[in-house]
Amino acid sequence: MERTLSIIKPDAVAKNCIGKIIDRFETAGLKVVGARMMHLSRAEAEGFYAVHKERPFFKDLVDFMVSGPVLVQVLEGDNAIAKNRELMGATDPKKAAPGTIRADFADSIDANAVHGSDSAENAASEIAFFFPSNWIFSR
Ligand code: CMP
Repeated sequence: MERTLSIIKPDAVAKNCIGKIIDRFETAGLKVVGARMMHLSRAEAEGFYAVHKERPFFKDLVDFMVSGPVLVQVLEGDNAIAKNRELMGATDPKKAAPGTIRADFADSIDANAVHGSDSAENAASEIAFFFPSNWIFSR
């Protein structure tokens, strides 16, 4: 059993796609064991994406992530990290395989509908960034 952090980003929330995206997770056997709807502050977005702070896209990424509410979730299941990444598809929706979340719901590499942890180490730190342990309800 593994956990990963998922964020349904401002573009997908604005497009009213929260339910359709969660359905992909649940259909694939992932359980939502934590959830917070938030409008991130600039400090929160910069802190969450601190690993990217030297990248040329950092300012655009932060601007986008504070542009509207997001749904932050902890997903749990067998191989949750890899499974979620498979469901999301490539970071750039133009390169995402047909039938993936980003192919179906994303518009651009910035407005790419979802974030998902990319390693066990990052999943642990990303989950801890948003969820005290008593905010996770493992069933
Ligand atoms: P995400 O999985 O949330 O992690 C970092 C985000 O930066 C990524 O999704 C994209 O939305 C955004 N981004 C913008 N440009 C790039 C790029 N060239 N490479 C990777 N991520 C990018």
